[in-house]
Amino acid sequence: MSKHKTTFNCSNCAYISLKWLGCCPSCNEWNTIEEHQSLPSLSPRISTARAQQTTMQPIDSVTSHPTPRLISGISEWDRVLGGGIIPGSFIILSGDPGIGKSTLLLQVADKLASKKKVFYFSSEESLEQVKVRVHRTIGTKTSILFCDEGNLETIIATAEQHKPDVIVIDSLQNCFFTQSNATPGSISQLKDSGFALMHLAKKHTIAVLVTGHITKEGVIAGPKTLEHMVDAVFYLQAEDQWNTRVLRSVKNRFGPISELGFWRMGQEGLQEMPDINQQLLQEVSYSPGSALISCLEGSRPLLLEVQALTIPSKFGVPQRVITGVDHKRVILIAAILEKYLQVKLSAHDIFFKVSGGSKIQDSSSDLGIALALLSSYFQIPLREKSIALAEVSLTGQIKPINYINTHLNEAERFGIQQLFISTKQTIHSSLTALSFSNVYELLKLFTD
Ligand code: TYD
Ligand code: MG
Repeated sequence: MSKHKTTFNCSNCAYISLKWLGCCPSCNEWNTIEEHQSLPSLSPRISTARAQQTTMQPIDSVTSHPTPRLISGISEWDRVLGGGIIPGSFIILSGDPGIGKSTLLLQVADKLASKKKVFYFSSEESLEQVKVRVHRTIGTKTSILFCDEGNLETIIATAEQHKPDVIVIDSLQNCFFTQSNATPGSISQLKDSGFALMHLAKKHTIAVLVTGHITKEGVIAGPKTLEHMVDAVFYLQAEDQWNTRVLRSVKNRFGPISELGFWRMGQEGLQEMPDINQQLLQEVSYSPGSALISCLEGSRPLLLEVQALTIPSKFGVPQRVITGVDHKRVILIAAILEKYLQVKLSAHDIFFKVSGGSKIQDSSSDLGIALALLSSYFQIPLREKSIALAEVSLTGQIKPINYINTHLNEAERFGIQQLFISTKQTIHSSLTALSFSNVYELLKLFTD
């Protein structure tokens, strides 16, 4: 007779141990190891003779009924979601406490409610508190129907009975599930809740939007499995220096994950910031060491200032303090400039940052990084309203970049006048372009 085997599984990260431990060695969480009686492992003796067979079919024979997305009209939200909410999808919105999750979902729900049936379950706040927020952000009239229920069975039964198009649950961690054996608020219960809501969303084609807390480490409180289970996970974050709220997609089964949405928290809730570049450009200094670049975040180009400070090093080993970009890239570009232009950057301390606390990964910013370093080295500023858009190769060649016209359209909109590009780049733009084929030619910007 096969024996049941006892294992100790971490409910946070699914680590399996043969003995009980207070702290999980894999995720370092305390008190997450639970005893499990695992079923006897499948042995070759198990027969599939009595199992039901399934039919395989070619993909063409599958009938599909495409349903239109639920478009809120809040363009920053719709874009990040990939063009609106897919009916029947299960979405988590997460972020630090007080960042504006409830406000954002309320505003989105209000817009959707003008065309669709929307239920808002506020398990975290009383209806009086919700009313204050409603008056503050969307006025006195809204078609959303509210309830402060936290019992998930009741929420699901209500949704099954009335079949709304969208339900909002604020927040999932504050809901309880009496059918679950696990204690309320525990990770296992959260998993059970996630599973039940996923079932509701798919069976009745109800879009389920929930808010979720995040831990000190910045991940959604609860198991990673919750992230695997849902269709999309979004994080609302604050970009301190911009006084702005940014919505990022971490996972999206129905859209891109690189899109960003920008809002500003005001007296009347979150206000969209479709012209984030306007604000970014106001902060550009055009002083020695500064260069303007453009980076694609999803489909949207962001105009960012890179700032370099190079000073002769006082110690044997020069310092490199670099934020906002992979430090190896800056060091590599500094090495290329030193090799081909004989500028002694290796004897200089290099401090480098990207304005607004952003992070850049695009290689289209290579030339901007090189120009910022040279501009600081020679203490000569670049021309005002100029932008650099090119890649730099290890051999010192200045190379063309992809999607240049997307960058240029945005640059033109915001009054950029001068471009620094590769001679091999073809552009359709009225902006004056200064082209370079090799880093040697960059010296002419600083030596006249
Ligand atoms: P909230 O949406 O409750 O955040 P979360 O649900 O992520 O915890 O937002 C709370 C914060 O936002 C709170 O500090 C007050 C501020 N706020 C405004 O500044 N203006 C507003 O119109 C609203 C509704 C909130
Ligand atoms: Mg909230």
